[in-house]
Amino acid sequence: MGAGLASKLPNVGTTIFTVMSKLATETGAINLSQGFPGFDCAPELVSLVEHYMRKGFNQYAPMTGVPVLREALAQKTFEQYGVAYDPDTEVTVTSGATEAIFAAVTAVVRPGDEVLVIEPAYDSYVPAIELNGGIPVYVTLTPPDYSIDWQAVREKITDKTRLILVNTPHNPTGHVWTTDDLNKLAELIYDRNIWIVSDEVYEHILFDGRTHHSLMTHPVLQERTFVVGSFGKTYHITGWKIGYCLAPKSLSVEFRKIHQYLTFSTVTPIQYALADYLKQPEPYQQLSAFYQRKRDLFLDGLRSSRFTIKPAEGSFFQTVSYAAITNEPDYDLAIRLTNEIGVAAIPVSVFYHQKNDYKILRFCFAKEDAVLQEAADRLSKL
Ligand SMILES: Cc1ncc(COP(=O)(O)O)c(C=O)c1O
Repeated sequence: MGAGLASKLPNVGTTIFTVMSKLATETGAINLSQGFPGFDCAPELVSLVEHYMRKGFNQYAPMTGVPVLREALAQKTFEQYGVAYDPDTEVTVTSGATEAIFAAVTAVVRPGDEVLVIEPAYDSYVPAIELNGGIPVYVTLTPPDYSIDWQAVREKITDKTRLILVNTPHNPTGHVWTTDDLNKLAELIYDRNIWIVSDEVYEHILFDGRTHHSLMTHPVLQERTFVVGSFGKTYHITGWKIGYCLAPKSLSVEFRKIHQYLTFSTVTPIQYALADYLKQPEPYQQLSAFYQRKRDLFLDGLRSSRFTIKPAEGSFFQTVSYAAITNEPDYDLAIRLTNEIGVAAIPVSVFYHQKNDYKILRFCFAKEDAVLQEAADRLSKL
């Protein structure tokens, strides 16, 4: 008999991403809802994976990741941020950032612990907290600039606060942290037993001359942060599900205990391929310019529209306000746009635990130029 299983995640149902993508397929709409590139990865990467598969690198990788990839990651991190992580004890390769986030949250959170979640928030954070018995405590960011209200953060911190989840550049808003944000966070937690999971999967996608301020670059934060990255966003390989966690040794020890029993290890030939590919800086150094051109193309196309737009600071998402056009709930408008205009977007209310409706939609601009142009043309008719 299958009846009667009490759900551990009663509030989790079909995600909006599934709903919108299904609707986009059914209606033939342009799908700017889900966050994945509409173009292929570098052929060289595919050749490298094939090369290592044919060479017989097809069995389990070491639990922490193949040494050459951990070394390449440590080297790149040092060159980029000036922070030295020991590849043997402080770098762990995971099955995507999603696994790294889950493992890091699990390593820290015990039943009854409070975890600060800055919302709108990526959808995997809260289930990870709740499955570990943690209690999400929300700090709410609002349009148009989504900057962090540090006074609000201060007020939410209690003796039970054990973890803070940070995401910069931010999905869904494209907001990017400054060094001032790093300093403010450090001031709040330097004398407390609070750890941080910093989701930095868009670390190479920043616009208008901005730089990424990784939490590892602040010594107080570095000591207590699990920095999470993903190759999926950087190399247009979201389907390969490969990411990593950089954390001081004492944190990595606990992180690895969880990772060991979540997935044990990650696809071997892909790790060898990425170790080679990572040695060329151009692909990730050029990524900001690549996406800025796409963001600008999309924004140019929307210039004659009635949306109110603040250009994204980073990530491959652009939010727009439609408050000047209609008062419809954002969810309803997202469905109507797909059905009537032929463009699928994500209503930003889904990223707030109480579904705050600020009349904002999120579009993913990691798509071919012609697709972005056509989408902007259609949206301008609204
Ligand atoms: C903010 C954020 N974190 C994590 C992920 C998941 O990354 P991965 O595919 O490497 O698990 C995504 C993917 O959309 C994301 O936007």
